[in-house]
Amino acid sequence: MTDQTKIPLPPSGPSLIERASGSFDFRALTRSPAPDLPPAPAAKVAPIQPAPIQGAARPVFASPVEPGPVLADAMPFHGVYHAIDRAHLREQCLIEPESAVTGLLEEFRIVKRQLLRTAAESRNGRGASYGERILVCSPHPGEGKTFCAVNLALSIAAEKDNEVLLVDADFAKPSVLSTLGLPGGPGLMDALADPAMAVEDCIIGTDIAGLYILPAGNATGSDTEYLASSRTGEVLARLTAHAPNRIVIFDSPPALAASPASVLANHVGQTVMIVRADMTGEAALRDAVQLLSACDDIKLLLNGTRFSTTGRRFGTYYGYKE
Ligand SMILES: Nc1ncnc2c1ncn2[C@@H]1O[C@H](COP(=O)(O)OP(=O)(O)O)[C@@H](O)[C@H]1O
Ligand SMILES: [Mg+2]
Repeated sequence: MTDQTKIPLPPSGPSLIERASGSFDFRALTRSPAPDLPPAPAAKVAPIQPAPIQGAARPVFASPVEPGPVLADAMPFHGVYHAIDRAHLREQCLIEPESAVTGLLEEFRIVKRQLLRTAAESRNGRGASYGERILVCSPHPGEGKTFCAVNLALSIAAEKDNEVLLVDADFAKPSVLSTLGLPGGPGLMDALADPAMAVEDCIIGTDIAGLYILPAGNATGSDTEYLASSRTGEVLARLTAHAPNRIVIFDSPPALAASPASVLANHVGQTVMIVRADMTGEAALRDAVQLLSACDDIKLLLNGTRFSTTGRRFGTYYGYKE
């Protein structure tokens, strides 16, 4: 995944991890025989512009709207649908539905294709179970878990044959709602802690067709214990019951900073491990992969690159006419 902020390359050239990626076999880190996700395409070495991340601080709360079109066997959802402010997405360098093809959109198209293939194989009984549940994790905070989880969800929602439920599973520091400009409400942890609460009632619909959000809910102080309880399996099963086309993406807490990530790994069929260029160290990556070893299929996604060994630049082809 290329870095979407327009910051010029440091004078020292490629980062340590970028240089290492040329000689180090990251696949050896994971036990999955599947190939890693594709490496990030070319850098955007562009004039300096204000970092769009600053826009994320502006609270934008969505207002209730009419639901967008849904799939025939879509989730029975009775709550209020909220509009998502497209400008708020743009300010944070997130995929903007219905907008022109961008490099970011193209990159996530490639990433999601492999995940959807594994999900489909899992459903057909040809792969590991729960392939439709995807954990987006990384060793430390700030490496792009939420950025990638939200973009992945936006990208999958655009699929004609899939809908997506994005679950904020970072119970201590939830940020999916603020990233999307959605109002707060009860969520997964509330449904785990209270057997009388139906998890379906916590789900938020959006005006982006096929995109649903399950907030983290209120942290309890015993989050990991609730997650490790037998009720978790039942609650998560309800999220995909009668919905063969639904993909569930979990925005995870950092594996090395909070214990829920390793417990969540028991409940998913795929993990996307974010490796942020210039940030994630190899030892931390190895530790994180080890901690999530309950999931057999861990794919690495290099985030925030500003270079490409092959000169690929996605998104530049569309719109070109002779
Ligand atoms: N490829 C990228 N391009 C631009 N900004 C990014 C990229 N990846 C992450 N960010 C930004 O970095 C910050 C930290 O990312 P975030 O997803 O919140 O990390 P995490 O969830 O791992 O703590 C956010 O402001 C996010 O918008
Ligand atoms: Mg996050």
